[in-house]
Amino acid sequence: MSFVEYGDTIKDGDTAIVFLGHESMFPVKVQHGTVTQTKYGVIRHSMDLIGKKYGSKVTCSKGGWVFILHPTPELWTMNLPHRTQILYSTDISVITMMLELKPGSIVCESGTGSGSLSHALIRTVAPTGHLYTVEFHQQRAEKAREEFREHGVEHLVTVTNQDVCKNGFGVSNIADAVFLDIPSPWEAIGHAKSALKAEGGRICSFSPCIEQVQRTCLAMEEYGFTEINTLEILLRVYNVRTISLQIPDLGKTAEDNSSTGFDSSNPSNQGSPCTNLQQGTVQFKSGVPLREMVGHTGYLTFATKS
Ligand SMILES: C[S@@+](CC[C@H](N)C(=O)[O-])C[C@H]1O[C@@H](n2cnc3c(N)ncnc32)[C@H](O)[C@@H]1O
Repeated sequence: MSFVEYGDTIKDGDTAIVFLGHESMFPVKVQHGTVTQTKYGVIRHSMDLIGKKYGSKVTCSKGGWVFILHPTPELWTMNLPHRTQILYSTDISVITMMLELKPGSIVCESGTGSGSLSHALIRTVAPTGHLYTVEFHQQRAEKAREEFREHGVEHLVTVTNQDVCKNGFGVSNIADAVFLDIPSPWEAIGHAKSALKAEGGRICSFSPCIEQVQRTCLAMEEYGFTEINTLEILLRVYNVRTISLQIPDLGKTAEDNSSTGFDSSNPSNQGSPCTNLQQGTVQFKSGVPLREMVGHTGYLTFATKS
C-alpha cells in the first residue's frame, strides 16, 4: 500500500480505513498482534486484516461487520488527526485544477499544517513530480515527515522547517505552482515568485478573510503576477430519500384516484417514479439538501507568473 499506488492485499504496516458507514470511519495502522475496537466488537489485525483484499467485509467479534478500504487522499482528509485547520476535498479539487497540476509537476506549499492538501498534491504529481512543503512549527513538520514515510510517499516530498515569509521555500526557479495557506500570505509572494520557474507558473493563496485577500492581491500585483482572480467554492450535498405525501381529500370518492394524477392504470403515468402504495398516500424518491448550511471555508486567489 502507498497513497500513490494501489496495493491489492492488506499488509503489516499499511494505513487502512475502517469503514462503518459514510458518517463513521477511521484510519488504522495495521500491525501484527494488534487489535482495534469498534462498536461491532474487536478486529484482530493478524487474523482479520493481514493478507485480506482491500474492500473486504470483515466480521468483528460481536458479529457486526465493517469494510476495510484502501487509503486515498480524500479518505485521509476525512479521517486524519487534526493538528491545524485543514483544507477539504471540494477546495482541494479546484486548487489542483486551477494550478494545472499533473504528473511531473513541481509544487511548493506552505504551511504543511496537517498534511491534508499535501497528500492530494503528492498523489497528483506522482510518480515524477515533487512537493516542497514548508512548515515553521517544528513538531508539525516532524509529524508530517513521519506520516509521509508511513504512507510510502517520502520520495515525492521534502518538508522544510522554516518561516516561509522570512526564508522562502528553499528552492528557486523550479516550481510549476505555489500554494499558500498561512495567515500573512502577502509576506510570501516575493518568495513564491522566486520559487516559480523563470518561464512562469501558477500561484494560489487560501485565506478565510477578505482583508487578507485584499493585501494578497495587492502584493501579487506589485510582484507582476497577472490574471489575479479570487473565488469561493460552496458544496451542496443531497441525500436521496423516499418521501411520502398525503393526497388531499378533495371530496371525490376514494376509488376515483385519476384526479390525483398518480393513477398507475393511466398509460401516461407508466414509468413514473411515484407509487400509490397506501390509499391516499403517494411515495417518491427525491434529492433532499442537508439541513445544515454549508459554511464558508476560505477565498481562493489564483494568479499567473508569465
Ligand atoms: C491552516 S494550516 C495549513 C493546513 C494545510 N493546508 C492542510 O490542508 O492540512 C497553516 C499552517 O501554516 C503554518 N504557518 C503559518 N505561518 C507560517 C510561516 N510564515 N511559515 C511556515 N509555516 C507557517 C502553521 O504552523 C500551520 O501549521
